[in-house]
Amino acid sequence: MDRPFQALRISDRVFWVGAIDWTLRDFHGYLTSRGSSYNAFLVLGDQVTLVDTVKKPFFDEMMSRISSVVDPARIRNVVSLHAELDHSGCLPQLVAAVRPDRVLTSKAGVATLAAHFDLDVPVEPVPNAAAVDVGGARFTFHEARMLHWPESMIGVLDGDNIMFTQDAFGMHVASHERFADELPADIVDYETAKYFANVLMPYSSPMSKLLDKLGDVISGAKVIATDHGPIWRRGQADVVAKYRTWCDRRAARKVVIVYASMWQSTASMARAIAEGAHEGGARVKLMALDQAHRSDVLTELLDAAALLVGSPNLNGQMFPTVADLLTYLKGMKPRNLIGAAFGSYGWSTTAADQVHETLKELKVELVREPLVVKYVPRDADLLACREFGRQLAAKVCETVA
Ligand code: FEO
Repeated sequence: MDRPFQALRISDRVFWVGAIDWTLRDFHGYLTSRGSSYNAFLVLGDQVTLVDTVKKPFFDEMMSRISSVVDPARIRNVVSLHAELDHSGCLPQLVAAVRPDRVLTSKAGVATLAAHFDLDVPVEPVPNAAAVDVGGARFTFHEARMLHWPESMIGVLDGDNIMFTQDAFGMHVASHERFADELPADIVDYETAKYFANVLMPYSSPMSKLLDKLGDVISGAKVIATDHGPIWRRGQADVVAKYRTWCDRRAARKVVIVYASMWQSTASMARAIAEGAHEGGARVKLMALDQAHRSDVLTELLDAAALLVGSPNLNGQMFPTVADLLTYLKGMKPRNLIGAAFGSYGWSTTAADQVHETLKELKVELVREPLVVKYVPRDADLLACREFGRQLAAKVCETVA
């Protein structure tokens, strides 16, 4: 049926019926410079089943895509793999509009959905890791606790071998291309890494366990149907391998230097340290926080061995953009980093000390006391910064193959 928004066929009986959010630029603190999509999927069996929904403002777009395949009133089952509002936000509208027989979710999902909505429909738990018939289509659901919410789960449509992985293996990219292999590989690689760094990094341990259990199944899936961005019909084993590398925090010989500066003194120190780190054999990424977003810093940390954070002193405090980054890092828990604090000061070194203490809290292995320069660095100070960069890179090269 011709509708303003059309579905896309994924297999004989599975259709993408999601929504594209072209203008999204902030996803709870994550810079989504390429927008995103909320992917929902229609499965046609003896009955019609909808897997996940979309963010509330996109209800009409989803319904239009569903209507291009079937009358939405034929939806009898709704599967909620993840209760976060970008995937469940229009559940109340959907339930009111189509009156399904049931909403199926994980055991924990029953309580989570109840804490979000007063849904006028039975909300039933599905068995974990056992095949279940949903309207004539056989699914196996696997609990995926803390990936990245307690109620998250993954569904496999048996026969079609399509894995519905909700947030996992996703990326924030808005595009009409629905398959990752239809987009430039550099964009796909960067956005997949950025997504892992900013959504899944704190949950590397449960992700690692999930990959131990299901990695081969996911690698062998015909399609990995994630809830954000393009879906995977090629390179499934490669993306699983990347996830393993990131979960294990396998670092490269890479130093990330991030700083704020008021009068370019801390900036000069950063550049001199970068010069030395390069001479010492490390790859360097230097990021100024008046330009670089916290989520882009996290992406660079995914394969970094060292993190250096520079801050000037502003009224006895670290610079606000540095505090913002460090607060974000506390939640994201990057691991296996060495590092140090540095910065210029006037009459108190409080800022560099605060950064030092926060890095300690983050379990960064500190290689020295804060490197500080009073007011404006002279050549001798910058030479000391460069030497520090060299020493740090030597330590990185010692520990990273
Ligand atoms: Fe895409 Fe955790 O929501």
